[in-house]
Amino acid sequence: ADLPLAAAAPPPSASTPSSQDELKRVAAHRAVELVQSGMVLGLGTGSTAAHAIDRVGDLLRCGALRGVVGVPTSEWAAARAATAGIPLTDLNAHPVVDLSIDGADEVDPALNLVKGRGGSLLREKMVEAASRRFVVIVDESKLVPRLGASRLAVPVEVIPFGWALTLRRLQNVFDAVPGFNLKLRAASTDAKASAFAEKGAEFEPFVTDNKNYIVDLFFEDGIHGDLSRISDDILRITGVVEHGMFLGLASSVIIARKDGATVVVN
Ligand code: 5RP
Repeated sequence: ADLPLAAAAPPPSASTPSSQDELKRVAAHRAVELVQSGMVLGLGTGSTAAHAIDRVGDLLRCGALRGVVGVPTSEWAAARAATAGIPLTDLNAHPVVDLSIDGADEVDPALNLVKGRGGSLLREKMVEAASRRFVVIVDESKLVPRLGASRLAVPVEVIPFGWALTLRRLQNVFDAVPGFNLKLRAASTDAKASAFAEKGAEFEPFVTDNKNYIVDLFFEDGIHGDLSRISDDILRITGVVEHGMFLGLASSVIIARKDGATVVVN
């Protein structure tokens, strides 16, 4: 039976958001206002996208939305959507996605992104590049003056075969960049465990949904220069599958700010 909207899917709170997770929720709920019945919806990965998936599930359950099908950008997103009650499809059945909603690790002033801290950059990029509209949802901590400036990783998905050679070739691309560093991502996110593992023979790499590895690139002062040329240089390396720079893909970015404002940048 249909429940009244208010009972199953309370609207976002109007008060000033008190935590980073609350900001993520505010941005996500704002993006979900763009979802219409019958849409093919790209479902993002991560703690911000989780709020969007849950909200769509709530709206489907109470009948405010109908006939939405989701294209998940990861195994995680598929599981989250299944729990939320969103019927799933894929890019083979739906090569054109109406709207994708996803988080990001960094957003620059031109709305270029870094994504893939969760390791799902390949499927995310495939789904989001196939979308008529890609809406990015972030709290304001994700805004950077240039990509790589947060000193978080710029991830590159590589095939496991010959990964050390691929890593060396990636190093060569950035040889002239002061303070540049890169490393194979470890399975454990626990800093102590991964530092220990790297010293011994026990290193266990992070494995993506596509059974690949991730090489994380670190920049002291962000990436200077022509991003599309740098993108080409990375993609030209045999053994690289994809990188986490999303250049010119975002249609709009919804930014939830600590002062309570929600800003939409197109
Ligand atoms: C996963 C991603 C995420 O969208 C990105 O890491 C942001 O995550 P969160 O919303 O948890 O901050 O690209 O591969």
